[in-house]
Amino acid sequence: MNILCIIGTRPEAIKMAPLINLLKNDSRFECFVCSTSQHKTMLESALSFFEIKPDFDLAIMKPDQNYFDVSVNILTKVEPVITKINPEIILVQGDTTTAFIAALAAFYLKIRIGHIEAGLRTNRKDEPYPEEINRQLISRLADFHFAPTQEARQNLIAENIPSRNIFVTGNTVIDALQIALNTIPRDENEWTTERFPEISEMLWLFLKDKTKKLILVTAHRRENITSGIKNIASAIQQLTKRDDVFVVLPVHPNPEVKNLIHNELKGIENIFLLEPLSYPTFIFLIEKCYFILTDSGGIQEEASALGKPLLVTRNTTDRREVINSGTAKLVGTNIQSILYSAVHLLDDGAVYQKMTIPTTIYGDGNASQKIIGILADQIT
Ligand code: UD1
Ligand code: UDP
Repeated sequence: MNILCIIGTRPEAIKMAPLINLLKNDSRFECFVCSTSQHKTMLESALSFFEIKPDFDLAIMKPDQNYFDVSVNILTKVEPVITKINPEIILVQGDTTTAFIAALAAFYLKIRIGHIEAGLRTNRKDEPYPEEINRQLISRLADFHFAPTQEARQNLIAENIPSRNIFVTGNTVIDALQIALNTIPRDENEWTTERFPEISEMLWLFLKDKTKKLILVTAHRRENITSGIKNIASAIQQLTKRDDVFVVLPVHPNPEVKNLIHNELKGIENIFLLEPLSYPTFIFLIEKCYFILTDSGGIQEEASALGKPLLVTRNTTDRREVINSGTAKLVGTNIQSILYSAVHLLDDGAVYQKMTIPTTIYGDGNASQKIIGILADQIT
């Protein structure tokens, strides 16, 4: 059975990699990977960690790209690839422009579509933008919906997706997380720049100083550009006036994000503005940090599995399970609200402890295996 997996951004690569590698080693399937390269460096970094080399690369990324460029280029360039492979099914993941346009192309070519991580919803057109509408449209196009949780399944049922086509599998990000964790040395003597070249000698001094707490930060959501990211940066500036904290922020390569963050936070001694990190290094820092401040989707899932407190800089959430589990709190992008929750976490041990209980809401690391079983069953 021919399967074509189409990916384009860092989170898609990370979340599809465990599935792709299992499919490639399963004689029932012939698995092809097409990268749109909606992202370039970040995608290459994730793929190289999982040792995946795409069979096709549409190479569409250009500086300052917008969703018109991305959509048009993918749609025209993916058609000959799909036609050549003529797969039984195309797998897409999540809610990116790559996933939506690839699903649209599959639909036009009458190829069945499997949607990994189906059913996340905020039911707000503007948050996350444009991802909420991308994933709703993918749900209209898809034939098989691999929902990470029961809640995601219910969201799909509420939209009249036939329940026989919905499969609750957990999220493949937990499979990826376990692979990354297995590569991280447990012996502190191996925590060196030689072993983790992205972590400088200076950063190690902070990481190994027991009097200092690491706040790990990421910010890239389109709806947080400009004022949201400016507010996040102001809150960080104020927090880092304390001498018991330091911040690591791998900066997203989106030029707008990069400029905003560098303008606001460059040159502060206890703020480390880094390039996007390789997947295992980032997971290592999740493990080492005190808490996380993020607007990322995938990081919420990883942090909740690791029992790491999270402040989510969004106004609404498509991952209610993480909030309900107690590991995360929605703080929006208001400076005072971020500071209030951050200071609570830093200074109130009881508040902190309550947010450190790991959850298994996204599964046990076998989501990819379950998806493969369903594919083998359903597609004959
Ligand atoms: C996309 C996804 C978002 C996901 C994010 C992951 C959509 C609609 N959104 O948003 O869901 O959370 O990826 O990071 O698809 N860039 C580089 N180098 C890279 C990657 C990006 O320079 O390796 C630049 C691009 O040229 C572009 C900007 O960053 O100018 C933004 O990239 P883009 O893919 O357009 O959207 P994201 O905001 O990253
Ligand atoms: N990540 C990474 N390096 C970094 C920052 C994040 O490998 O410097 C990983 C992170 O562990 C998660 C994924 O990238 O698996 C999340 O990607 P992103 O936040 O860009 O997208 P989202 O999940 O919000 O769509």
